[in-house]
Amino acid sequence: CGIVAYLGRKAAQPILVEGLKRLEYRGYDSAGIALLNDGSIHVTKTSGRISALEGILDEPHGWDTLGIAHTRWATHGRPNTTNAHPHLDATGKIAVVHNGIIENYATLRTWLQNEGVVFRSETDTEVIANLIGYIYANQADAGLPDDQSAFEWAVQQALRKLHGTFGLAIICGDFPDTLIGAKRGSPLILGVGNTEYILASDAAAIVEHTTQAIYMADNEMVLVGPDGFHTKTIDNVTIAKDLKQIEFSLEQIELDGFEHHMLKEIFEQPESLRMCLGGRIEAHDGKIKLGGIRDYLRELTRARHVIFTACGTAFHAGLVGEFLLEHLARIPVETEYASEFRYRNPIIEDGTIVIAISQSGETADTLAAVEQAKERGAVVLGVVNVVGSTIARATDAGIYLHAGPEIGVASTKAFTAQVAVLSMLAIELGRRRHLGSDDAARHIDELAQIPEKIERILEQSDHIREIAAANIDKENWLFLGRGFNYPVALEGALKLKEISYIHAEGLPAAEMKHGPIALIADGMPAVFVATAGPQYDKMMGNIQEVRARGGRIIVVATEGDEYLEGVADHLITVPQTPELFQPMLTAVPLQLLAYHAAVLRGHDVDKPRNLAKSVTVE
Ligand code: G6P
Repeated sequence: CGIVAYLGRKAAQPILVEGLKRLEYRGYDSAGIALLNDGSIHVTKTSGRISALEGILDEPHGWDTLGIAHTRWATHGRPNTTNAHPHLDATGKIAVVHNGIIENYATLRTWLQNEGVVFRSETDTEVIANLIGYIYANQADAGLPDDQSAFEWAVQQALRKLHGTFGLAIICGDFPDTLIGAKRGSPLILGVGNTEYILASDAAAIVEHTTQAIYMADNEMVLVGPDGFHTKTIDNVTIAKDLKQIEFSLEQIELDGFEHHMLKEIFEQPESLRMCLGGRIEAHDGKIKLGGIRDYLRELTRARHVIFTACGTAFHAGLVGEFLLEHLARIPVETEYASEFRYRNPIIEDGTIVIAISQSGETADTLAAVEQAKERGAVVLGVVNVVGSTIARATDAGIYLHAGPEIGVASTKAFTAQVAVLSMLAIELGRRRHLGSDDAARHIDELAQIPEKIERILEQSDHIREIAAANIDKENWLFLGRGFNYPVALEGALKLKEISYIHAEGLPAAEMKHGPIALIADGMPAVFVATAGPQYDKMMGNIQEVRARGGRIIVVATEGDEYLEGVADHLITVPQTPELFQPMLTAVPLQLLAYHAAVLRGHDVDKPRNLAKSVTVE
């Protein structure tokens, strides 16, 4: 979900709509906007995309200098117009947009209903609006402190009763130049311009207007008015916050001539990896500089057990990291889905280090796993892309990807950057443990060549489109790999599923004979990641097994592999690199394959159905 709110001198509506579009990747099943005019609040909302909202909005008014807006990805309640935000309280005085989940909403709702409050939607957000509205309407009974407005006071009282998570923007019909924001567990940033303020859940909605911002912390609220902004805790303790510079520029976020964000991000990988590796691997003495975890390097070097925890694509990067750390640093590693880790009874002892991997830094399951690990006393580190995100702040320290913003819902450049970071970590820990500087330097040298090798793979984009086209009528695909390329097979299958809606399964190639081989018939596409390495011969056996049963053989092979040229129905090549760094190369053609398949099938690649870029619900 995404929040954007505006208070300033300009017309709010176009600014809010523009902001929503920038946030659309966070959720897009319904959207709405509330504007304040002459004591009353005007709400327009609808199910569907922001474009649907634009279609029903009035012409620009000229009076609307204060408003709040939201794009939603449903949690409580169906994605229909009634459940779309903003939500008004029963009196129509208070309007609220909300990210997060209120856990005690049912109790509060029953209590308010017993007090005679009537509800219109199924959402937990309407409970917040009504709670504030109820307290606001009945404040006379409670007595109001001198230094607070009735609006502010009511919001504070209500927030203290909420259990769960929220990022909130709130307005009140009686306060035409006050905007209130509040945060717990869901991101909120206040962009501070010359004569205007933009409150949003994501910097992408702010950078067009200003790059100065304050990042709200949990249990803080901000009051924005004509005389500036004030930050305090929800317990009414004033706090001073520094203005920070927002890192991402709008230009970085925009499409830059590509048809889709996903394609742009696939093609950005040479550059994003250069940014990720740059400055860290340039010392030429076998040492890697990982400034973010400087204070934890000793502990990491002595680690007896590392646990990677993540979701989706980041989980697949973790699996590659597991192979890397095991191979180069000889540390026992396990990789666990964050959603599973948090409900297990994990063994965390002296020397256990938990590393959370997340592009957005906002994924609820991953954050919950971080909290769980912290509670158990583990050192918890992050491998995160979004600077200042919740997971980045919740971890003890971390390594940022520096891959730039990733907008396409299907993660691409974050994956290769995650693997690059984990490669650097493995080399550095290896060097500190037993690897020797020469070996480390040799690995670093190979790592440094990855970006230009990816450039060579990207040149095959048209060829890969033809492969997708030749198989576009197939509804079931297999992706097979071994060793370091086994997680790549999983990732290739996930990419195809999520954007082209074709069923695909990723497997360690040898497991095929234990069941999935029964599926193979009638030209079913099987994508083999069969690059040069110790398991190459075994892969050739697997390819023959599929071929003999009538499967269509698509192979990602190392450049110059003449044998496979003769065997494969379709061949894609990647430059030579040691097995342990191959995933950064072999994942790229599979990203392109999924992309082209989705476009050929006519799907909205950047906003696949049912998916959201950062899943902030568990
Ligand atoms: C969502 C996205 C996936 C992503 C996963 C983890 O499900 O659709 O592409 O891999 O979340 O996201 P994170 O931001 O934590 O890496």
